[in-house]
Amino acid sequence: MNILVTGGAGYIGSHTCVQLLGAGHDIVILDNFCNSQADVISRVEKITGKKVKLYVGDIRDKKVLEKIFCENQVDAVIHFAGLKSVSESVKNPLTYFDNNVAGTVALCQAMQKFNVRRLIFSSSATVYGNSSEAPYDESMPTGNVCNPYGRTKYFIEEILKDIFAADPGWNITILRYFNPIGAHDSSLLGEEPCGVPNNIMPYISQVAAKKLPLLTVFGNDYDTPDGTCIRDYIHVVDLANGHLKALEKMCDSGNGLNIYNLGTGKGYSVLELISAFEKASGQKINYKIGARRAGDLPIVFADTKKAEKELGFRAKFGIEKMCTDTWNWQKNN
Ligand code: NAD
Ligand code: UFG
Repeated sequence: MNILVTGGAGYIGSHTCVQLLGAGHDIVILDNFCNSQADVISRVEKITGKKVKLYVGDIRDKKVLEKIFCENQVDAVIHFAGLKSVSESVKNPLTYFDNNVAGTVALCQAMQKFNVRRLIFSSSATVYGNSSEAPYDESMPTGNVCNPYGRTKYFIEEILKDIFAADPGWNITILRYFNPIGAHDSSLLGEEPCGVPNNIMPYISQVAAKKLPLLTVFGNDYDTPDGTCIRDYIHVVDLANGHLKALEKMCDSGNGLNIYNLGTGKGYSVLELISAFEKASGQKINYKIGARRAGDLPIVFADTKKAEKELGFRAKFGIEKMCTDTWNWQKNN
């Protein structure tokens, strides 16, 4: 198939492009490089030995979208393009609603116009908010989200449900990611946050590489075995493979709107993650215990049964490989 990958130069998008090309699909990438580097494209080509067709542009730009759909026979769209910093979204909510929500609307309008109605969308476990407790399953309520970034994901999910309700000719899969970490084992692709990282894994690896002096663990007084928060970390290559499974299912079955969690189903605390990283890297992680971070939930992990049963998706890689691959990427870049 020929897949349009928006945000294909980003962290998850680039790993998914590698898996798509490896599985024999053709891809067209649309990215404006607002949070990625152009050389990611040549790295994807180097890993796969295949050429990538790239459009540099914005998903909100109707002209670029029409050009892409006119010049390419697109069978499905995997839509990663979006802004993802929780703290930035609190400061600039309009930027987030414009880029993520208006961007998705513009993309869907172009898809409708060119009769391309297969869409896989990058959502987040954040949509579950604090209404229920882990393990989160796809039938649980969503929307009680505490920041604008999370609300963009919730609103987009609702918009996609309305699009499908109005026209059941669409085939839409919403994937709710838990916490992607790790890197490609070639060390050519990985996460490259701009400035000081918000997320734990790039923070740990930059402390290990002595780029940052000290990690602050946000709270050790939660109701968890060691007092620190628990998350469901998933290797980015496993996550990428989840998209292939979703694509296969989408093409094998009829139209519909389906929602799946992509996680491992197993949670690790912040202290367990630090210790796994120290073991994998042989580096000591300098850390101190600090105050809780506003908005953090104590325990987040996925119920993976639906993705396992309906997509045949099961994460393969454990925490050791997630840490080893992150460290190799950090050392080599
Ligand atoms: P990323 O920032 O590495 O990748 C996003 C890519 O989209 C970047 O290459 C960026 O340049 C591009 N982009 C952003 N806005 C664009 C626009 N308007 N037009 C064209 N290109 C644009 O992020 P990622 O970690 O790869 O995340 C991919 C998707 O998954 C995002 O939608 C994100 O919200 C979602 N997600 C990520 C996580 C996570 O922890 N990484 C968790 C849940 C959901
Ligand atoms: N943490 C620290 N110190 C840090 C950074 C994080 O102790 O410097 C802790 C957090 O308190 C949390 C855990 O590490 O307990 C994980 O934090 P991240 O910021 O890495 O990830 P979150 O679970 O907060 O959020 C991530 C993405 C969101 C996405 C969500 C989905 O950042 O975009 O996963 O579950 F919505």
